[in-house]
Amino acid sequence: MRLLESLFHRNRAWAERMRAEDPRFFERLSDQQAPQYLWIGCSDSRVPANQIVDLRPGDVFVHRNVANQVIHADLNCLSVLQFGVEVLQVRHVIVCGHYGCGGVQAAFDDHRHGLVDNWLGHVHDIAERYGELLDGLPQDHDPVDTLCELNVIGQVLNVCNSTVVQDAWARGQSLSVHGWIYALEDGLLADLDVTLDADSDLLAARIAAVEACRRRAG
Ligand code: CO
Repeated sequence: MRLLESLFHRNRAWAERMRAEDPRFFERLSDQQAPQYLWIGCSDSRVPANQIVDLRPGDVFVHRNVANQVIHADLNCLSVLQFGVEVLQVRHVIVCGHYGCGGVQAAFDDHRHGLVDNWLGHVHDIAERYGELLDGLPQDHDPVDTLCELNVIGQVLNVCNSTVVQDAWARGQSLSVHGWIYALEDGLLADLDVTLDADSDLLAARIAAVEACRRRAG
């Protein structure tokens, strides 16, 4: 007996619906993928890349991990970035965080959560780096929300500083890197205004984006 029968049932129904809408959809997609976007997001089940921007299969190349991080030595993420930028020639890399991120929360509190604390150490570093900003937020503002934003900004800069993106920009390839955040409460995305391309001053952009985080918190 096939396990998880209901998922196979849902799959068949979905494939039928897609074919009804567009009879050649799968045939076309099986030939090649040509997405314009690379999405780097959190593994959280409530933040599915394609669905929240209402894109179909083939439209977005996706990498997700706990707390949407881009670590300079993470071969998994860097391989996705390289394939997306160099082979698929995506035009946009989107780092998308979300408010209420359990990973960011875990990096912020002082409890032990197991192995994942080592992965989240990078977010913890961001919390330490911006400790003064986080400590100075209004009482009624959740500092974890601001840390979620600061984390996105930090990861956007990590994408920009990767050899993959630096080399793409040096070649003159058209490529923008964006930092977004998603609200679980209303399903809406917000742009953190840290959109960077080959002409951007990365340091100035980071300073401005961090200042905007402080202002948003009130
Ligand atoms: Co998360």
